[in-house]
Amino acid sequence: MEKTYFIETYGCQMNVADSELVAGLLQREGYRETKDIARAAAIFVNTCAIREHAEDKVHSRLGEFNRIKKRRPEVIIGVLGCMAQNLKDVLLENKPYVDIILGPDSYRQLPQILHRKTENKTHIVDTKLSRFEVYDDLFPSRREGINAWVSIMRGCDKFCTFCIVPFTRGRERSRSISSITTEVEQAVEDGFVEVTLLGQNVNSYHHEGKEFHDLLEEVAQIPGLRRIRFTSPHPQDVNRTLLETMAGHRNICNSIHFPLQAGSNKILKRMNRTYTREHFVALTDMIRELIPDVGISTDIIVGFPGESEADFQETLDVMNHVQFDSAFTFKYSPRPWTKAAQYSDQVPEEIKQERLERLINLQKKHTLSRNRRLIGKVEWVLVEKESKKSSRQWAGRTDSNKWVIFDKGSAKIKDLVPVRITAAHGVTLQGQQLKMEEAA
Ligand code: SAH
Ligand code: SF4
Ligand code: F3S
Repeated sequence: MEKTYFIETYGCQMNVADSELVAGLLQREGYRETKDIARAAAIFVNTCAIREHAEDKVHSRLGEFNRIKKRRPEVIIGVLGCMAQNLKDVLLENKPYVDIILGPDSYRQLPQILHRKTENKTHIVDTKLSRFEVYDDLFPSRREGINAWVSIMRGCDKFCTFCIVPFTRGRERSRSISSITTEVEQAVEDGFVEVTLLGQNVNSYHHEGKEFHDLLEEVAQIPGLRRIRFTSPHPQDVNRTLLETMAGHRNICNSIHFPLQAGSNKILKRMNRTYTREHFVALTDMIRELIPDVGISTDIIVGFPGESEADFQETLDVMNHVQFDSAFTFKYSPRPWTKAAQYSDQVPEEIKQERLERLINLQKKHTLSRNRRLIGKVEWVLVEKESKKSSRQWAGRTDSNKWVIFDKGSAKIKDLVPVRITAAHGVTLQGQQLKMEEAA
């Protein structure tokens, strides 16, 4: 049978980057990617465990893989990533069609496991977490494109009481600056014009005395790199030096993901977020002061155990003060092993739902008003793809991470062009491309 693989990815960008790493390993073994799951010799699903809903999606996909396995018993089915780690026993008992289960620190073993697997039929499981694995020397196989994901640190030691990540991904560890810059240089040589530096706590990066802002300085010097983004920073490790580094380099985007989670000090403390509402607000004020026209996005959880209406109101108050440009909003979902799952004062589902809707409505207003401020202004937009609505228009992002739709004209994909913003509808902007000399 021809050596082909199919890989499907759930969860955050770290998982996207890990799937590219796995693709690189498989290709070195002579495997070729196929988009046709019905023909693949090996099927992988890279999983996420962050909320129950994420796990449900993977379970339903595994049901589909089971049907494929019944028709083609020789196909190899592999579960990778964050669920592999926490569900290995359940998977082994209930899903005998799964051949391989590998946690996020075990991908190096994949080639050897595939060899063994073709010879015998036993299940192979490795979900041990490592204190050292950063896949320093392995180059990911990236699809051609605009943005290259580059993972710079792995794991998390913060132990927010709602979060499963410290259990699925293990302890925090960082790559060397030189291995990161080599990878970024390679990506630029391969035609990428933007990189996004990735880590569960990207700004907790430290390696041999170097901090995250030192890394940013070095990456910003790489010739040909138009844009640098990073995600996800933890507010605890955002400081003036980092913000000044961002402000001091044109190719470091003026956009920051700044996860609030909750606006009440009582809830923040119970979440073990290590900052107060006052500190968070002071930091956002400093971000807006030091980085002109910055775009700030956030993550917010509603219905954390013990959240009263008054606590929730405090979240809305912080939102009203900060006016986030966008927000990812979630209903609290209890996760195995986490402290908060054991709290007795869980919030009923209807209340979570009702708070979520109020929060989304408020955010919509803020997004619209932040976007409307740009009408009439000129933004530099990186042309990324064709608009979904019209083949005559491009879609690209501003530095501050907002999507803009505009007529194609003479611009090409990967061009960085000046666009005058003409309208704002919901999350997207409309614009008109200017000539370079008009932008000055
Ligand atoms: N390391 C990142 C978060 C990664 S998880 C950070 O600290 O910002 C992405 C988001 O999922 C979190 O910011 C949080 O808002 C949400 N999340 C995590 N665990 C959750 C849970 N148990 N229920 C609901 N949302 C959760
Ligand atoms: Fe989870 Fe908190 Fe770590 Fe983010 S910082 S990954 S929310 S434990
Ligand atoms: Fe999900 Fe794991 Fe990322 S739990 S959000 S894929 S780190």
